Amino acid sequence: MSTAPQPPRRPQPSRLSRRQFVKGTTLAAAAPFVTGPLARAALPPVDDPDVLRIGLVGCGGRGTGAAFNALGAENGTVRLVAMADVFPDKIESSLGHLKKSLGDRAHLVEVDEEHRFAGFDAYQRLIDSDVDVVLFATPPHFRPMHLRAAIEAGKHVFTEKPMAVDGPGVRSVLETAAMAKRKQLSLVSGFCWRYNVRHREFYGRIADGALGDLRAVYSTYNASPLGQNPRQPGWSDMEWQLRNWQHFCWLGGDHIVEQAVHSVDKMGWVMGDRTPVSVTAIGGRQAREGAESGNIYDHFSATFEYEGGVKAFHMCRQMANCSYDNSDFIMGAKGTGTIASGGWHHELTGENAWVYEGDGNDMYQNEHDEMFAAIRKGEPINDGVWMTRSTMLAIMARMSAYTGQTITWEQALASELRLGPDGYSFSDLAVGPVPIPGKTRFA
Ligand SMILES: NC(=O)c1ccc[n+]([C@@H]2O[C@H](COP(=O)([O-])OP(=O)(O)OC[C@H]3O[C@@H](n4cnc5c(N)ncnc54)[C@H](O)[C@@H]3O)[C@@H](O)[C@H]2O)c1
Repeated sequence: MSTAPQPPRRPQPSRLSRRQFVKGTTLAAAAPFVTGPLARAALPPVDDPDVLRIGLVGCGGRGTGAAFNALGAENGTVRLVAMADVFPDKIESSLGHLKKSLGDRAHLVEVDEEHRFAGFDAYQRLIDSDVDVVLFATPPHFRPMHLRAAIEAGKHVFTEKPMAVDGPGVRSVLETAAMAKRKQLSLVSGFCWRYNVRHREFYGRIADGALGDLRAVYSTYNASPLGQNPRQPGWSDMEWQLRNWQHFCWLGGDHIVEQAVHSVDKMGWVMGDRTPVSVTAIGGRQAREGAESGNIYDHFSATFEYEGGVKAFHMCRQMANCSYDNSDFIMGAKGTGTIASGGWHHELTGENAWVYEGDGNDMYQNEHDEMFAAIRKGEPINDGVWMTRSTMLAIMARMSAYTGQTITWEQALASELRLGPDGYSFSDLAVGPVPIPGKTRFA
């Protein structure tokens, strides 16, 4: 496993061409594969200047999936050339899974020993290596720092949701998104429903007025509890928390931010990504058991208030043996919109009644298909503002539930509370207390 910054792997005589592509300049028209896919037999060798090199930071379940999707885009003109994770074993298991799932396309993975970076600075060494596009799928605590480093270095980015876990993180990502825009770099988010064709049609019709003026929005994300990794001999507190990251608020932001944010994002989407005035939320921790379950809540309920009197309600839960549901309801002056069956049934009732009957798509694949096409065309996608606002919506609901206070958008955005330790090392790390509404103070 490499620990030192690496020089470029091999001479790149024709690099200018690829660099000009990836910097979003005007060479797009010269790309031979913009208009027609390459046959698999004609895969370009990795020294081909027109191959886009990707690096993956965070080699767990979703990161491995994102790399698979990236390699499925562009018909073989993308290579995975570098991987970074805080733990070396995660890199090796991700590599194994990837190669197995890719089958006869396993040669698209070209990650030699020198480009497997482990440790807390692994992301930076990967960014400093010869990659054009970086995929981020670490716990979201690290996202603001990682995204800033990648965009500063001129890389295109795919980033999993959520974008941050606290106010300072949100402000940082907003700055990074603006920098990406100035630099003409793609910044594509893993809020996957926005890349789902059924959802686009559904929300597009509502935006076009099918339901008339919106009155209220209601969504649920009632799910089962998270898996746990029991502590092993030799693990420091830091390693134990990282290997159970969803359970620790500083790493994952609590489950409304880490998981239910998908539904909160759809609420933001239907509201035109306008910011709400305030949120009042409740929540608690009743059924989580064991030290590995950390310090997060297991249920939340939130009411967002928007200008004009529209209210948006959200409820989420992670508990066993309870009813599970993940649905969206939009009530308007002319009818109601419903997404049910885990995102597979889309229906409008009332004046403009409609049911989606077209084909679906693989939204995870589409994120990468659209991102790589945008990079090739020199027309970068920048999801920066809405993806960060959606993250803030979930964070402000958590802030309200933890403190028992109604929290305004401005308050949440100005929050100075930064979650997590000041520095990162494999050492002792106390678990913060479970917040108590009315006692925990907003900061
Ligand atoms: N869009 C979706 O549907 C979807 C689905 C699952 C997960 N996610 C998101 O993807 C992200 C990852 O989730 P996951 O399920 O893959 O978790 P995971 O635990 O399987 O993977 C996270 C990986 O990041 C590594 N990591 C932790 N800290 C790191 C650091 N500082 N630098 C580098 N690597 C680090 C871990 O060791 C682990 O390998 C989360 O933000 C999660 O919310 C999105």
